[in-house]
Amino acid sequence: MQTLAYNDEIAKTTDPLYEKLSRQYSRDHWESIAPYIHEINRLKAEKNAVILAHNYMTPDIFFGVGDVVGDSLMLAQKAAESTADIIVQCGVHFMAETSKILCPDKKILMPDMKAGCSLADAITAADIIALKEKHPNIPVVTYVNTSAEVKAESDVCCTSSNALKIVNALGAQGHDTVIMTPDMYLAQNVAAETDVNIIIWEGSCIVHERFSPQDIIDARKEHEGIVVLAHPECPPNVMAEADYAGSTAQMDNYIKEHQPKRAMLMTECSMSDNIAANNPNVDMIGACQMCPYMKRITLPKILQALQSEAPEIIIDAEISKRALKAVTRMLELS
Ligand code: 13P
Ligand code: SF4
Repeated sequence: MQTLAYNDEIAKTTDPLYEKLSRQYSRDHWESIAPYIHEINRLKAEKNAVILAHNYMTPDIFFGVGDVVGDSLMLAQKAAESTADIIVQCGVHFMAETSKILCPDKKILMPDMKAGCSLADAITAADIIALKEKHPNIPVVTYVNTSAEVKAESDVCCTSSNALKIVNALGAQGHDTVIMTPDMYLAQNVAAETDVNIIIWEGSCIVHERFSPQDIIDARKEHEGIVVLAHPECPPNVMAEADYAGSTAQMDNYIKEHQPKRAMLMTECSMSDNIAANNPNVDMIGACQMCPYMKRITLPKILQALQSEAPEIIIDAEISKRALKAVTRMLELS
């Protein structure tokens, strides 16, 4: 890993951000990462590159170098609209593939190819083909947290922010049953709110499955008036104890709009740090779990990816074209 020196010019461009993040980083730590923020931003401008950063990125990435920040749906929508030549995806592999599917002519860089996802690992294209053979004429709704090959075999994609909408839209088109893959908890949480029958696949997120209803009960005893927000990848018994359910962007909006005195998020740790930095009047209580895949993305790896323009996401053109149909159908329905 290269070491970059801190100097007055870097201090001038990064000090305003440090004021916002001084609760998260000591001054010494900041001076070791600020040169990366400075150099990444310089290179981005030079190469007409844009950084799409998921809400689970650490604050140095999220605030320091992210041009577009948000949930999976928002990042996909912004990728589709982007005029940049290069997209650096700061999130996990399936998100970079979604950008490549939507922008096949752009260079999509993934700072660490090992940043995967337990949900994407839970299902293969062959599994979808077998499901379709077992349940003919039943549409397959596939969570975006999957590979391009899996999307290519699916009828429509969904994210945590539009899953219910997509299932209901299929219901309105006359489908009384749909298959939802690969997250069993997201499927069960949607099933609780729709009249459409849902056939589930037994995948789960290794981060959200670790939360329990007891975490919420204990937090309510300890922190009076706490508002609990949960991501729909959490088990249904956790959702039942929470005050609000939503995608990462929906949770972020809820805090922005409601400014509760204190809040706890049943989701990944960095999301609480980013919300705390943006909402200094909200006391964020930590009950988070770390996603080891998201945490593979670091400032030095982002800089390396921009400098070398690698590793790049490449998808077979035929698979990409078929996956695009499922992603486009989702964007149209949402
Ligand atoms: P969002 O679409 O809500 O950002 O979720 C993505 C994800 O991977 C959550 O674990
Ligand atoms: Fe995948 Fe869960 Fe990590 Fe999201 S938090 S990327 S669903 S493993």
